[in-house]
Amino acid sequence: MTVLVVGAGLVGAQVVRQLVDRGERPVVLEPRPQREALAGIVDLQAFDLFEGDVLQPFALSAALAGRSVRAIVHTAANPLLTLGAQRDPYRAIELNIMGLANVMEAARIHRVPRVVASSSSVLNRYLEGGGDGGDLSREEALPRPNTFYAATKQAVEGIGLNYARSFGIGFAALRYCPVAGPWSGPGGGGPSGIFRAMVEAAVDGREVIVPGTAMEWVYSKDAAAATVLAVDAADLGSSVFNVTMGRLFTPEELAAEMRSAFPGARMRIEARPEGSTWLGGDWKPADIGRARRVLGYEPRFPMPALLADYAQWYRARRQAR
Ligand SMILES: NC(=O)c1ccc[n+]([C@@H]2O[C@H](COP(=O)([O-])OP(=O)(O)OC[C@H]3O[C@@H](n4cnc5c(N)ncnc54)[C@H](O)[C@@H]3O)[C@@H](O)[C@H]2O)c1
Repeated sequence: MTVLVVGAGLVGAQVVRQLVDRGERPVVLEPRPQREALAGIVDLQAFDLFEGDVLQPFALSAALAGRSVRAIVHTAANPLLTLGAQRDPYRAIELNIMGLANVMEAARIHRVPRVVASSSSVLNRYLEGGGDGGDLSREEALPRPNTFYAATKQAVEGIGLNYARSFGIGFAALRYCPVAGPWSGPGGGGPSGIFRAMVEAAVDGREVIVPGTAMEWVYSKDAAAATVLAVDAADLGSSVFNVTMGRLFTPEELAAEMRSAFPGARMRIEARPEGSTWLGGDWKPADIGRARRVLGYEPRFPMPALLADYAQWYRARRQAR
């Protein structure tokens, strides 16, 4: 029995690595494999790579054919996530919504018992409405996503859950918050790139620019660990899980973490965007209690461990060049 991982970027590559580390040989479907970046995370010989597109149903079928696949992990993403979807909504709508539909259909036809799909913590944040306090007789009962990316992730959750209900496919949607972690190619969302620039600048001895907004973070290895737990869980309960470090960092708190990980680093906090509501305030961090209880998820990389592990990876890579 194996696992098919769709999309091998910042998160997908770590999922592949964790499956390989425990002796499995996963299958990967990826249209533009970034071989050099992938090789920085996982041995390229340790998995089967299909160069194919999740939007082509036959590519999914080819990757599944003749194999006993116990789960599909779906991590395909449009470049730059929220920002990318605001610039090119149609592409994000097509990839996120039809990509998930193709994965669910492939699971149905090929009798794959479980799908674990990437959702996003934007659904805890990029919302408006809800002013009718949950009263379903009124129009504003439920909050609605106010970005294209968040709207597609809401669709991913709703469509996946309906496939689960109608066809008995186990389905989990994992709401990762901004993911930080080792990766040398393009990938992840805007915040992933900002975090990467911070760590690389600190190790290279350049000025570190700390984002001027409050953020939640999760290490890519923790996001992948939660994903693998969802592949394995006997019972997925209600199926949607927050996957974060479990706390929020104000710019000052993140700067303090950076200072203690990289003593002597030159650092400044980026100017705060005019009228920003992203400074923490009454913003509650995502509650990861359900992932803890149902999946047995526990973040293994609080910020100091994240920074130490990431910097170690970057130093080793720099030395090898
Ligand atoms: N990185 C974050 O901060 C973050 C936060 C929340 C949720 N997520 C979600 O997690 C998932 C993984 O994100 P990531 O950071 O690893 O992104 P990434 O950009 O690093 O990786 C996505 C991979 O999907 C591949 N892909 C693109 N189009 C494809 C297609 N048509 N068929 C198959 N593969 C395709 C890309 O080539 C890339 O390798 C995404 O669904 C994303 O929306 C990411």
